[in-house]
Amino acid sequence: MKYVIGIDLGTSAVKILLVNQNGEVCQEVSEPYPLIIEKSGYSEQDPEEWVARTSEGLAELVKGFEGDVRDIEGISFSGQMHGLVLLDENHKVLRNAILWNDTRTTEQCQQIYDAVGKNRLLEITKNPALEGFTLPKILWVKEYEPDIFNQAKVFMLPKDYLRYRITGNIHMEYSDAAGTLMLNVAKREWSTEILKIFGISSELCPPLVESHTKVGTITSDFAKSTGLSEATKVFAGGADNACGAIGAGILQEGKTLCSIGTSGVILSYERRNDLDFEGKVHYFNHSEENSYYIMGVTLAAGYSLSWIKDTFATQEGFDTFLQGVDTVPAGSNGLLFTPYLVGERTPHADSNIRASFIGMDASHERKHFVRSVLEGITFSLNETIEIFRNNGKKMDSIVSIGGGAKNETWLQMQADIFDTKIEKLASEQGPGMGAAMLAAYGCGWFSSLKECAEKFIQTAKVYNPIKENVETYKKLFAIYQNIYRETKALNNELKDFRK
Ligand code: XUL
Repeated sequence: MKYVIGIDLGTSAVKILLVNQNGEVCQEVSEPYPLIIEKSGYSEQDPEEWVARTSEGLAELVKGFEGDVRDIEGISFSGQMHGLVLLDENHKVLRNAILWNDTRTTEQCQQIYDAVGKNRLLEITKNPALEGFTLPKILWVKEYEPDIFNQAKVFMLPKDYLRYRITGNIHMEYSDAAGTLMLNVAKREWSTEILKIFGISSELCPPLVESHTKVGTITSDFAKSTGLSEATKVFAGGADNACGAIGAGILQEGKTLCSIGTSGVILSYERRNDLDFEGKVHYFNHSEENSYYIMGVTLAAGYSLSWIKDTFATQEGFDTFLQGVDTVPAGSNGLLFTPYLVGERTPHADSNIRASFIGMDASHERKHFVRSVLEGITFSLNETIEIFRNNGKKMDSIVSIGGGAKNETWLQMQADIFDTKIEKLASEQGPGMGAAMLAAYGCGWFSSLKECAEKFIQTAKVYNPIKENVETYKKLFAIYQNIYRETKALNNELKDFRK
């Protein structure tokens, strides 16, 4: 039996999967690392932590592996998107990585609109200027840390840096490059126009490859520290959302994904590269050749749930914390939550907005708060579904993965709020499985990713919308949508009080 490894470099941990030729997960290792939050709106990580934790995780995996390591044929990656890693001429990291959920760059986003023009930016990059994307982060460093910017010789995204440390080779692939705001998404090349406007040398941008391209093998040092064979082939990998989609079989028109991790996304496969969503949703290259996806992002999805648990029930596990939510009726007895803990992206690109509980009543118990957090996250994701539907996307069923697929009540809630069937997968492994599938395809085990998905992915259960709940949620969704408008000015006034 042959094996591949999928490495998912997430925001809170690196998750490593060993997958065999039948698509079975034979081993799984997870190594956490911290976020560095220096002040409100900042979010950084030390790239060295990614490398050290991945190396330890791989060593642990190899230690527990009973076969011949030479049968582990390939490795590929999934990575948190947009994070900026800057390297000097010796390829040493110049500063902490600035991550996707860092919102310090509102000013730089405005500069991008002023210099490029909103319409031209959309024509080239298919996306609006958002704080989380990479170009605003580069411009921030250029403005506030010019010494560092002047030493920078190449920029990388998180998983590309990790892969560089494993292979010694520098590359970037289309699905992650699409989130930099420097790629011409339809033409699949770095935009010389954008680079020129901002005085960024094209040498700062790594060469581009497909997600399943073999970019090297592992270095002898890395082989020594992990126990892997030096012959292990390394494939480029993809953005975590693209890999989550592959791992859930989102590989043809009509297929849609709901993925709840730290952030939450609704993502739909797109064959065409010439549609116009007016920047309301993200429009990125997929990790399958010549295909795309559209996506809306809730910045604090799983993060809202872990925030309320960690703040008010630190010691409890999620299962205990969620006990009783199934006994609370749809709508949490009039309690609504907006998940804007760190600002929002879709449909409100607003780094100042903050979360609210609206309608607290003396009768509400803890379980009402917990249910309303689940409902608020799901309402937020439904805003993306509404945009997709208004643009003519058909969604008969949605595959749910991540935190939202771990709880029966939440799965039914998604069916009721999205008003569509929800599919739960038999063995749901998230983006790490998509990464492993890219390695399996790269190794030549399958003639296409679709063929691989047919073998690796099965639906375990389908949740159908319950009519009565659909009606209740329709009414509540309209009220939920008002909360943003009603709390925007208040949150702007509160901004100066945030530390
Ligand atoms: C997508 C985004 C997040 C990160 C999470 O645009 O910023 O979903 O990819 O890792």
